[in-house]
Parts: sequence; C-alpha cells; structure tokens
Amino acid sequence: MKIAVLAGDGIGPEIIAQALRVLEVLKTEGMPLEFVHAPLGGQAYDQYGHPYPEFTQKICRDADAVLLGAVGGPQYDNLDRPLRPERGLLAIRKDLGLFANLRPAVLYPELANASTLKPEVVSGLDIMIVRELTGDVYFGQPRGMRTNENGEREGFNTMVYAESEVRRIAHVAFDIAMKRGKKLCSVDKANVLETTEFWKEIVIDVAKEYPEVELSHMYVDNAAMQLIRNPKQFDVMVTGNIFGDILSDEASMLTGSIGMLASASLNETKKGLYEPSHGSAPDIAGKNLANPIATVLSTAMMLRYTFDNEVAAARIENAVKKVLAAGCRTGDIFEAGTKKVSCSEMGDQIVAAM
Ligand code: IPM
Ligand code: MG
Repeated sequence: MKIAVLAGDGIGPEIIAQALRVLEVLKTEGMPLEFVHAPLGGQAYDQYGHPYPEFTQKICRDADAVLLGAVGGPQYDNLDRPLRPERGLLAIRKDLGLFANLRPAVLYPELANASTLKPEVVSGLDIMIVRELTGDVYFGQPRGMRTNENGEREGFNTMVYAESEVRRIAHVAFDIAMKRGKKLCSVDKANVLETTEFWKEIVIDVAKEYPEVELSHMYVDNAAMQLIRNPKQFDVMVTGNIFGDILSDEASMLTGSIGMLASASLNETKKGLYEPSHGSAPDIAGKNLANPIATVLSTAMMLRYTFDNEVAAARIENAVKKVLAAGCRTGDIFEAGTKKVSCSEMGDQIVAAM
C-alpha cells in the first residue's frame, strides 16, 4: 500500500501531519502502509521550478494512492500561468487519468448550526457530487488568448466531451448511486450547449444498464437554485468538469464547514488522489489553527475506494464522529458551548478515539 504524500502549500503540511498520524495507527497495527513524500504546487515550484516536477510525477505514478494537502498561495499569483500551483493540480489529474472526482457533502448533526441555511433544510443532508475531472472546457483545445481578425484581443476555450469520457463517468455515478439511495441527477445545460446535450444523450443510454436507478436531468442554473432551495432532494449528482467545480463548492457550503469535506479523484484502475475539498488557507498557515478533519476523512475515502477496506474507513469516520460528539472544535466550526482545539489537538483526539 504505497502512498505518495504531497503536503503542498499553506496549511497543507499541518493537516497532512494529522492525517498521517491517523494512518500510522493502522500501520502500527500491521497494515502494510508505505509513505513517500514529494512536493506539489508552490512548494514544488520553489524546489524544482515547476508545480508538478518529474521527481513528483515518478513517485505519484509509482504509488497506489496519493494523499494531497492543498496547493496555492498569494506569493505565486504573479507567476506565468503554466507555473502556478493550480496548474500542478490540473497536471497531476491529467497525468494519472483521475477522471472521476467524488465530492461528498454531508452534514454532521453536531454541526447543524454551522450552515447558513435553516437547520430543517439541511439536517440529514448527504449528497455525493460526481464531477468529471479531466475533460470539458478545462482541457479542451484550442484554448488561449489571441488577436482576432478585427484586431481585437480575445480569450477562448473549447467545451468538448468525447463519448467514452461521458460513458465512463456515467458508469461511476450509476455504480455509486446503486450503493446509496439509487437516485441520480445528471446536470447539464442541454438547452444551450451541444456538448452537454450530447452528455445527456449518453447518460440516458448508460442508464439502460441500471434499471433500478431513478435518473433525472436538471439544467445547471436550476440545479444551483435547487441546491439552496431543497438540497435534500438530491442523492447523487453527476456533471461535467466546470459545472462540477461550481456546484461542489456550493454544496460544500450547505454544510457550513468546508473544513470537514473530503474528496477522491479516481482513475480506471481505482488508483486515487485524495484531498480535502478546501484550499490552502494562507491566512492561517503555520498557526496550528486549521481543521484537519477533511484530510483525515480523505484517508478514509482512500481506504474505501483504492484499498477496498471498508472496515478501516468506517473506523476513521467513526473516530471523527466521536470527537465531534465530545464537543471538540477547531476555530472554523467552533460555537458557544463547545471546546476550541488546535489542529494538532484535533489530531490527538482523533487518534485517541481510534
Ligand atoms: C477544485 C479547484 C481547482 C479546480 C483549481 C484550484 C484548479 O477549484 O479542485 O475545485 O478548478 O478544479
Ligand atoms: Mg473548485
């Protein structure tokens, strides 16, 4: 079980340290875990002059799974676009073929007040967003900036999906729906964009293989509205790269605590990159204030999806629930009547609960 560990930038190293402590518990008990560290993003640019250097690429290609903290920081904002930390993230997704991005939005009962929505709208919320991650306008060619025939400058990108790309992400989404509430909503903009009209057509075709799953379709603007109006109508949502980027941020905030949300990005062989859904939070970096739970829960997803170890995954998730039930909170989820803890103290508590 070889894991590439990419701590990254900002709070990345602090939250990764706590996640590794949790995995060390399992290793001490005999799980054959092996950790290999490598830089990504700004950290990699500083060391190697590139956000996804060959050194890191080799280690990640060789690993069974990748555990990532976060990338990005204001000191890198003025770099040439291909050298920015975010490009390192896009490069590793493409390089490892991580086309299926799973972003759960789960509301923990103890944190019902953290949401800006009314408790009755979000209590019990449990949505899985399946976002296609290696296609769409993010990677479509041609792209760039140019001067058009009228002598005016313009920027342009290409929204494109091949049939095989839509089929494989649709299969992932239907398979997940089968293991959950058997409801899948495919999000598109088929009323305007041919790319997503095509997407819808293929999803409908794949649905024939999953007669038990109730499939619905929704335009992305309506989906954005419905997520706020009545989020509990959703079980699994599947959508393309750009819509998924936007809707998953929106869904994460229904829970009020982006510091709690994990994510998995999988390829066809179940190799995966696991990372918290939040960013590098440069404002609190190095202060031992960050919430490590999203990263800890990402290790649970790793055990579940790459290593097929549901028991170990559930054990980590239960340890987190126990610590929340005991009232431990990092600053981002703190409220009166609970106990404020640091990043490393949260790690202590989760390890103890394990
Ligand atoms: C995400 C992020 C990335 C994306 C950025 C940092 C490139 O917003 O993982 O959602 O747009 O995919
Ligand atoms: Mg995003």
